[in-house]
Amino acid sequence: MADTWQHIPILAQDIANLLLQNKSGYYLDGTLGLGGHTKLFLSRLDYNAKILGLDKDAKAIKFAENKVADHRLITRQASYLQASEILKELNWPLLDGALFDLGLSSYQLDDATRGFSFLKSGPLDMRFDNTKGTTAADLVNTLPADKLEYIFRTYGEEHQSKKIALIICQARRETPLKTTTDLANLIEKHIPRFGKTHPATRIFQALRIAVNEELETVSKAPKMLKDIIKPGGRAAFLTFHSLEDRIIKQAFKEMEKTGAWRLVNKKLINPSPEEIKNNSRARSAGLRVIERVL
Ligand SMILES: C[S@@+](CC[C@H](N)C(=O)[O-])C[C@H]1O[C@@H](n2cnc3c(N)ncnc32)[C@H](O)[C@@H]1O
Repeated sequence: MADTWQHIPILAQDIANLLLQNKSGYYLDGTLGLGGHTKLFLSRLDYNAKILGLDKDAKAIKFAENKVADHRLITRQASYLQASEILKELNWPLLDGALFDLGLSSYQLDDATRGFSFLKSGPLDMRFDNTKGTTAADLVNTLPADKLEYIFRTYGEEHQSKKIALIICQARRETPLKTTTDLANLIEKHIPRFGKTHPATRIFQALRIAVNEELETVSKAPKMLKDIIKPGGRAAFLTFHSLEDRIIKQAFKEMEKTGAWRLVNKKLINPSPEEIKNNSRARSAGLRVIERVL
């Protein structure tokens, strides 16, 4: 694995300021990635603090373990939705804080073998956990046109979803689409570029969200918080598109109505222009934090 892989943690200082209220507390990094946020958190926490780092991606966990190299980090390859059962296994108390930094990491995008990028030729895979489940190739080669259209329209907000779904269905009758470039070139052949954006951009985003069931998963996360966060503890969600943010915003509103939770920030926190200049991935990021009151 290339140890030059970089992933600059987004809004890292802000998240640390809002989340780390107890220096010797117990925390969850539900999307460990390359450990960027966790490394910063640990630099601010005491010797006896603990962080549970979860990721679906085994390679990310290995990388993060090496990079962070700290006895206070415990890792597991798992979905963040399994946090509650893992905390029970570990015999940990309820948490002081949890972070969910959604979506994919830049190292996954850069690794051609994972199939996330239309700029690099690789198998049309896109699974965060590439040991199980349906790949992007499975979806594009087997789903009926109306299902593909739904995925492209709903998860990619793609205006030409019907046309692209039909083009794919026609092409796969001749030869199945196997690689990222098979799909990207097919789309580029039929859909003109709009400005600098590659016409496959939204289609790749939509397939990644569908393959990993990202929206279904994130919808379940706020419901899980009562099982993992202690009264006075906080949870932070870093989202990367309006679909994700809408889910978190709505869920937080409902939680606030119960009186058991309080919004730490009423307005979405966005990275500064300077952070965006240094890290283009920060462009679409938004942070919401909630605190358990009761
Ligand atoms: C944006 S990256 C996290 C980057 C990390 N905060 C850092 O600073 O290095 C998102 C990570 O979440 C993982 N992931 C996505 N969905 C997940 C889920 N449901 N459960 C656990 N990990 C997930 C991805 O594999 C990816 O490594």
